[in-house]
Amino acid sequence: MKRQLFVGTLAMVCLATAAQAQITGSKHDFSSYAWSGGEICKPCHTPHFGNVDAGFMWNHELSSATFTMFEGEVGGPELLDERSLMCMGCHDGTVALDSFGGTTGSNTIAAWAKIGTDLRDDHPIGADAIYPTTTSTRFNPQNAAHQVPGPWGSLRLRAWIDPTDSVEKYVVGCSTCHTAHNAGNYGHMMRFSNQASHICLTCHIK
Ligand code: HEC
Ligand code: HEC
Ligand code: HEC
Ligand code: HEC
Repeated sequence: MKRQLFVGTLAMVCLATAAQAQITGSKHDFSSYAWSGGEICKPCHTPHFGNVDAGFMWNHELSSATFTMFEGEVGGPELLDERSLMCMGCHDGTVALDSFGGTTGSNTIAAWAKIGTDLRDDHPIGADAIYPTTTSTRFNPQNAAHQVPGPWGSLRLRAWIDPTDSVEKYVVGCSTCHTAHNAGNYGHMMRFSNQASHICLTCHIK
């Protein structure tokens, strides 16, 4: 009985730690930056006057950059899924971190976290990462909910309208592999641990 109580208390302590170890204190907690106004959510979300097209009560300016995609083709935001564009509003380095809530800022992202607009050296996303819908010898299948379920966790593909045929397709985007809220507190804000390349092996049959 005593032992059970102890285990119960321990479980509660662990749960409390997990609940805190999310966005607070992560690389997306900007509350200590002078430009943030001391808030965590505000650089990305607002309770009022959000960007209706972006959804999620989005508060940050979006990127309208011209990208060089993985395969070398050049084009605008239409080549990326909408969620990745939310990331690029800070991570391509063309929009200031403090450009939110209608103000134009001047602080850009540090070089180590700047993905830039040349995506030839990054894992394919959007137009160059349309996930197969038919049986493949190279990729594990996506399910009806457009997730790729694996033994370590499930990765969600992102909806994207292909401008060449106006058909909605499901692609790999930034938030397929990462979570903006550091949910789970895995390194690099991954969806789940990439230990032994588990993220990669969820999709790729290798
Ligand atoms: C660095 C940007 C960023 C910050 C800071 C941020 N979010 Fe988000 N949030 C996002 C993005 C991007 C999405 C879109 C959904 C996705 O990527 O899964 C989102 C989606 C959401 C959603 C809807 C989906 C869900 O996960 O339930 C809620 C609710 C939310 N955020 C709440 C918050 C709150 C509350 C805070 C502050 C404590 C916060 N967010 C801070 C980027 C951010
Ligand atoms: C409001 C601006 C902003 C938005 C929007 C944003 N980020 Fe970030 N992100 C940053 C900054 C700034 C850093 C680096 C912080 C630093 O230099 O300490 C960062 C760091 C990261 C890191 C590194 C985490 C680590 O622990 O190594 C990842 C991964 C990341 N972001 C992914 C994303 C993804 C994916 C999205 C979209 C879903 C996104 N970010 C949206 C500003 C943003
Ligand atoms: C296929 C999965 C995948 C996709 C898609 C992806 N990333 Fe990553 N990202 C990773 C992994 C894995 C790491 C950790 C790399 C390592 O261990 O050095 C990472 C690291 C990062 C870092 C930290 C860089 C560093 O050197 O520490 C940032 C910032 C980042 N990603 C942002 C993004 C953004 C923005 C996008 C969309 C344009 C994106 N990622 C798309 C898997 C992905
Ligand atoms: C959500 C599914 C998904 C995940 C997770 C994923 N990939 Fe991919 N990967 C793709 C798709 C889709 C493509 C592009 C389509 C193709 O190559 O046929 C691709 C392409 C690639 C390519 C080929 C690029 C080329 O030259 O054509 C490499 C290499 C690769 N991924 C490595 C990785 C690594 C390493 C990881 C883990 C960090 C990873 N992938 C995670 C889906 C994924």
